Amino acid sequence: MATHAGGLTAAPPRAVRVRDLYRGFGDRVVLDGLDLRIAAGEFVALLGRSGSGKSTLLRALAGLDRAGEGTGLVEVPRNLAVVFQDARLLPWQRVLANVVLGRSGPDATERGRAALREVGLAGRERAWPKELSGGEQQRVALARALVSEPELLLADEPFGALDALTRIRMHGLLRDLCARHRPAVLLVTHDVDEAVTLADRVLVLDAGRVALDQTIDLPTTRSHRQPRFLAYRERLLAALGVDETGGQT
Ligand SMILES: Nc1ncnc2c1ncn2[C@@H]1O[C@H](COP(=O)(O)OP(=O)(O)OP(=O)(O)O)[C@@H](O)[C@H]1O
Ligand SMILES: [Mg+2]
Repeated sequence: MATHAGGLTAAPPRAVRVRDLYRGFGDRVVLDGLDLRIAAGEFVALLGRSGSGKSTLLRALAGLDRAGEGTGLVEVPRNLAVVFQDARLLPWQRVLANVVLGRSGPDATERGRAALREVGLAGRERAWPKELSGGEQQRVALARALVSEPELLLADEPFGALDALTRIRMHGLLRDLCARHRPAVLLVTHDVDEAVTLADRVLVLDAGRVALDQTIDLPTTRSHRQPRFLAYRERLLAALGVDETGGQT
């Protein structure tokens, strides 16, 4: 880590800073003075019960909520990308055109092709979105997100609609892509195992704030059978108010 002349350790470069964030709808307060920091290149997963405000937070970071809604400080890099549960591809554009949507310049097409290669879809450039499976469409969405080399990737349950096997494959793909491109990541998920498998840090959102901030100290290659993996899972499930049998605690 870099140090300056005084010998003090420099803070890691920051991708996201949120302070005292309030968001609500009518009388309902959803985010209630929330604070959040994400370092450059850090992978953070966000868990929370349905309706706890995960998507509201993600939309605030993405700048997708209406101007003037709520209060608080939100600092994010300008170069950010968002991926949702559905791939949101334009049905009247072919796959490559969807990846490079809104980009111009001589190398746009080549970068789009390279991104498709990276997500395992070389050769499908001229396919229509409806000709792809759900998992393949999400791969296109990831290629589209990464083609701009974002400093921040915001993902709202990107694998939520996929079957279990495809989801596991997508975990491997996302981990590899993030290791190569090193964006900061905020991944919203309902899946505790997905969070512990992928993240450097897992947050649990409750009552409008970060109720648990859990660093995941595991090797890059993670197995659900590792005792520490199981311990993290248990702690996170407890914070979510669920026991191992799925019952409410
Ligand atoms: N546009 C809106 N108008 C009114 N209420 C809203 C709006 N968007 C969200 N809410 C409310 O805010 C709360 C938080 O919603 P949000 O979508 O952020 O939850 P979430 O944690 O993403 O839930 P889920 O896990 O089900 O996706 C919910 O009670 C929801 O009904
Ligand atoms: Mg949501």
